[in-house]
Amino acid sequence: MSNDFPTETPAVVTCGLPYANGDLHIGHLRGYIGADAFNRALETLGQQSAYVCGSDMHGTPVAVNAEQEGVDPEDFALEWHEQYEETFPQFNVEFDNYGHTHDETNTELTQDIVRTLDEEGYIYEKEIQVAYDPEADQYLPDRYVEGTCPYCGAKARGDECDEGCQRHLEPGEVEDPTSTITGNPAEYRDRTHKFFEVSEFADYLTEFLDGLEGTSNARNQPRQWIEDGLQDWCITRDMDWGIDYPETDSDGESDLVLYVWVDAPIEYISSTKQYSERVGTEEYDWEQVWRDDGEIVHVIGRDIIQHHTIFWPAMLEGAGYTAPRGVAATGFITINGKGLSTSRNRAIWAKEYLEEGFHPDLLRYYLTTTGGLQQDVDFSWDAFQEKVNGELVGTVGNFWYRSLLFAYRNYEGTPEADVSEAVRERIEGAIGDVRESVNDYSTRGVGQAAVQLAQFGNEYIQRNEPWKLTDENPEEAAQVIRDCVQIAKAVGVLLEPIVPDKAQGLWEQLGEEGEIADAHLEDALEAPPRTFDEPGELFAKIEDDRVAELNEKLEARVEAASDDGDADEETESDDTAADESTSMADTDDLEPLLEDRIGFKDFQDLDIRVGRIEDAEGIEGADDLARLEVDIGFETRQVVAGIKQLHDLEELPGQKCVLLANMEPAELFGVESNGMILAAGDEADLLTTHDDAAIGEKIR
Ligand code: 2FM
Ligand code: ZN
Repeated sequence: MSNDFPTETPAVVTCGLPYANGDLHIGHLRGYIGADAFNRALETLGQQSAYVCGSDMHGTPVAVNAEQEGVDPEDFALEWHEQYEETFPQFNVEFDNYGHTHDETNTELTQDIVRTLDEEGYIYEKEIQVAYDPEADQYLPDRYVEGTCPYCGAKARGDECDEGCQRHLEPGEVEDPTSTITGNPAEYRDRTHKFFEVSEFADYLTEFLDGLEGTSNARNQPRQWIEDGLQDWCITRDMDWGIDYPETDSDGESDLVLYVWVDAPIEYISSTKQYSERVGTEEYDWEQVWRDDGEIVHVIGRDIIQHHTIFWPAMLEGAGYTAPRGVAATGFITINGKGLSTSRNRAIWAKEYLEEGFHPDLLRYYLTTTGGLQQDVDFSWDAFQEKVNGELVGTVGNFWYRSLLFAYRNYEGTPEADVSEAVRERIEGAIGDVRESVNDYSTRGVGQAAVQLAQFGNEYIQRNEPWKLTDENPEEAAQVIRDCVQIAKAVGVLLEPIVPDKAQGLWEQLGEEGEIADAHLEDALEAPPRTFDEPGELFAKIEDDRVAELNEKLEARVEAASDDGDADEETESDDTAADESTSMADTDDLEPLLEDRIGFKDFQDLDIRVGRIEDAEGIEGADDLARLEVDIGFETRQVVAGIKQLHDLEELPGQKCVLLANMEPAELFGVESNGMILAAGDEADLLTTHDDAAIGEKIR
């Protein structure tokens, strides 16, 4: 039996909680908008679903910043929390519940879950070495200490290798520790802490990952970590700010707080619980979702995959909660091809975007259809203009306006006729594409299906020239316009998850009652009201001089930030503004361009071909290597590629790729490799062609 969305059981969609410590920017918005669009799309399919989130109030990301401002961490975090509550709706991000990790619901539930894990025997005490600053006379958890990552040698924070391999680091692991309070070298001192026995869950997690939906990086990276051997996880910290470990010492007070990564994901449950309590359990039952058969989907940044696919499912399993169905891990975001950097002010801030007077749906469209939930997104005002003017203004807006205006002027609304069979089938095709895209966790696919339908509408009206038919063949003219009005409505229903406000505008222009957000896919085929008023244009072109002005502003503030005391040395202040860890790189992490140029002849010497992967399997004994059979037109090549952990091998056959065909043969793990598959970045994003280039075609 298919378990595709929509299912009989309720779903919950969550998005990584923002640390309550600074202004929101495009890197944050990408995740919250993406998850919002996904949740809306699920609901359009007819899936019962709730979208919940909350502010992440605890831990050193908040404590360090509050301390720098000389304020109490609770007041500091609450102020940011309130600001986030106001900002999200301005981007049409509509949470069914937005709580925070410091509220009573989350405090109680966290302590309850930890108690259960303890009772089940998954928690033990161990003496470990923790960093200590003798001058400040305090322990140095997480961001209070920095040093060198023991795995990759990059500069790292106490609990994460944020500039290198992205691994979670345990207390005591960071090498050459320095206090971020005084800049002095830290000492290591013995302390007793609580550990969660993650290692006990290795088999469970392997099975869990086999069934996990979402993006392939969220399945493949953790498989490698499990193979490397799971370490138990220290879940307490020497700090005052946080949720107390649910155990008391002889004074009746716990002297340890829980690590922020324990109570943060529990807010997913707490927030669902608050929603359920508000609407009533008959309407939405949080316990059914989290303790029985709910469909749990997490949208996260790819830097927190380990927390969501190892620690979190182990906690859920250990405490008797439901496992997530899907984890979608978004890629990074760059600005004009360079890493987003809050310290260099190379960012697009949420407030700034709105102050520039742009409609939130334009950014929603850009972010959800450029990279979707998985790919990296580059933002530039030029690319934004091109996409908005081309796809939203030129294709969707143009089609909506011309169809409705023609219908209004000639028929005062929807002409009386049935939709033609061909057009009905075309709309059904688009509905099918949306259903498939949602099940593939692809917001990009949802947007594409809708825009391609609008494109079809434009071609349809152009081909049939109803303006010529009104006199010659009025019946046919009415049929063409009847079809177009239906296509316009269908585009609105399919595009609502992405541009909810604009879609509502269309809905009202069609004279429909209520909210388009409540419409389901099938409603795309229901006739619109017989009459409607004169329509207006829903999208406006972004002019070139506007873009030039925005580019100048961005350039000037990046420059000002660099002049303003070497931003390069200011990596810390990246965290004093909002923490961007949920979805983007925070440094220029691109490889420098090569100085040496090559001639055209050198390029021609590279025989690069379009190929199609026919077969893919892991090479036994090699952690990273896979053997691929690639059809390059003339023949099928056997190629060895380092993508075993980075792609779902069973999903590769059938995919087009790009292959360097005149690479010298090599033998790896006893398998001959006869060419090289081209890929970009740490995730081995496979290069491909996007149109109809034939298999075997040379890349020139
Ligand atoms: O990395 C971060 O920004 C964290 N605040 C995300 C927490 S997500 C969760 F598990 F709650
Ligand atoms: Zn590292």
